[in-house]
Amino acid sequence: MEETLVLSTLALAVAALLAPKAKRRLELSRAKHRSLAGHSRMAKRVASLIPGYAYDEARFFNADDAAPEVVERRTAGLARLAAHFEATEQSSIAMSDRAKALLPDLRFTASYRVPFQFSPYLRERLRTGNFVRASHGPLLENIDGTELHDLAGSYGVNLFGYGFYKDCIQEAQTLVGELGPVLGSYHPLVLDNAERLAQLSGQDCVSFHMSGTEAVMQAVRLARYHTRRSHLVRFCGAYHGWWDDVQPGPGNPAKPGHTYTLQDMDERSLQVLRTRKDVACVLVNPLQALHPNAGAPGDSTLVDSSRRAGYDRAAYTAWLKCLRDVCTERGIVLIFDEVFLGFRLAKGGAQEYFGVKADLVTYGKTLGGGLPVGVVCGQARLMQRFREDRPADICFARGTFNSHPYVMGAMNAFLRRIEGPEIAAIYEGLDERWIGHLQRFNAKLEAAGLPLRVAGMGSVWTVLFTRPSRYNWMLQYLVREQGLALSWVGSGRIIWSIDHDEATVDGVADRFVKAGQNMLNDGWWHEGSGLDNKSIRRSLLKEMLRQKFGFAQG
Ligand SMILES: Cc1ncc(COP(=O)(O)O)c(C=O)c1O
Repeated sequence: MEETLVLSTLALAVAALLAPKAKRRLELSRAKHRSLAGHSRMAKRVASLIPGYAYDEARFFNADDAAPEVVERRTAGLARLAAHFEATEQSSIAMSDRAKALLPDLRFTASYRVPFQFSPYLRERLRTGNFVRASHGPLLENIDGTELHDLAGSYGVNLFGYGFYKDCIQEAQTLVGELGPVLGSYHPLVLDNAERLAQLSGQDCVSFHMSGTEAVMQAVRLARYHTRRSHLVRFCGAYHGWWDDVQPGPGNPAKPGHTYTLQDMDERSLQVLRTRKDVACVLVNPLQALHPNAGAPGDSTLVDSSRRAGYDRAAYTAWLKCLRDVCTERGIVLIFDEVFLGFRLAKGGAQEYFGVKADLVTYGKTLGGGLPVGVVCGQARLMQRFREDRPADICFARGTFNSHPYVMGAMNAFLRRIEGPEIAAIYEGLDERWIGHLQRFNAKLEAAGLPLRVAGMGSVWTVLFTRPSRYNWMLQYLVREQGLALSWVGSGRIIWSIDHDEATVDGVADRFVKAGQNMLNDGWWHEGSGLDNKSIRRSLLKEMLRQKFGFAQG
């Protein structure tokens, strides 16, 4: 009896001890997004189970069981495209073929332009080139002399037009040429850049790195060092470079470590921040406002028409303010990762645009004036890398090429130019102007009766498809036929340089309309397919299970 009493008291005591832990654990799981992107470990497991298989010619053209007449149109359409590219990109294609043996990166991007089942047949039949030799305004000239209007934006670097960056790089040569590539000692421009960046970011200190990924690594390392906590919080779908801790899911062979991936714009995530003691920092990539909780919309995952995007400035601003408050309350370091969007939304970046101040801010891409760079700006207390009272306790960060004179020269040209009247005129009314461009673009798509729309956050757009189809990824090639170049992620990202005027954007819209009309005529969006997004996904799942376990067709 006495023994039972002791045991149950003990059990109660253990339960009381464990209850808060269990509660926090439960809160953490509730703060994860229900999609696979919210569950890194599970996503890796699922990804490893997906069987590799490819469609043969027949299935390539009728993956949706289309009628023979539609298949015929598709076949003819693909042949027309192939002939067009062979004629306009012949040398570029030949050079790409040679390069593929040497450059795994090229093999990777070439393979992941479309859903994997379609990829091998398409790669064989529809070849495009990767080699360009000149840029003229927004036009890229390939080595065959064919011009394509660039909508890829050099991954976001190209904010003010290629001419702007050519000038910055040329000026860098003049500014630092006498010193040359001397590292370790500083060219005086390092100080000038640091002062300008501190002023622009509203932060105290600056550190220079060689890529956006490194800037993010350093920001997180500093946050861990100063808080003495282990974990970083990132939001579901957000890209912060390719370092292990910010890319815990598929694509990274390492096991997820000290990272919590939480739901964006969700109260339950705030609750986790309020209650956990191990969170060092929260990383925010403001581009996620365009598609909260979803990854960058690449065409290799465009298996149906369920891609969604839409930007609500007021809602995202409110969310950032809540985050700011919780981070302040809990001593968590709030990091804005502005590597992509910095200088694109406003001269003072996302901090200025949303009216929320971060503790640390990372920049990169366009800030290098066309050369590679990563930058961290932050409060003095967080940027400090050693402790006077404990000399062996340091937060180490180096990098041979940090503060490279040529990069500093191009960055200086960039920073001085954006203070000039020409760029001031571009920033003036920027948001309204790009909302106008987007509305006119959509009006043209609608007037042409196309099942196609664009959504955007300023000058970063994504294409949405309004009719269920298995072939939306074909659009990137039909758009290319019209002289428009998208990046390897395809229609998921259109990145404009913000010097585009109304007439040029409208010209691009007209070509998009032509591409959309060809999509229709070539049968890739045929009417009466009877498909909906759910049925497409269901049949794909069945197909994969058949491939995995060898079930009979049917
Ligand atoms: C928000 C964000 N952070 C970090 C990075 C990584 O920068 P980098 O490619 O220069 O390493 C990127 C790159 O696209 C980015 O968009």
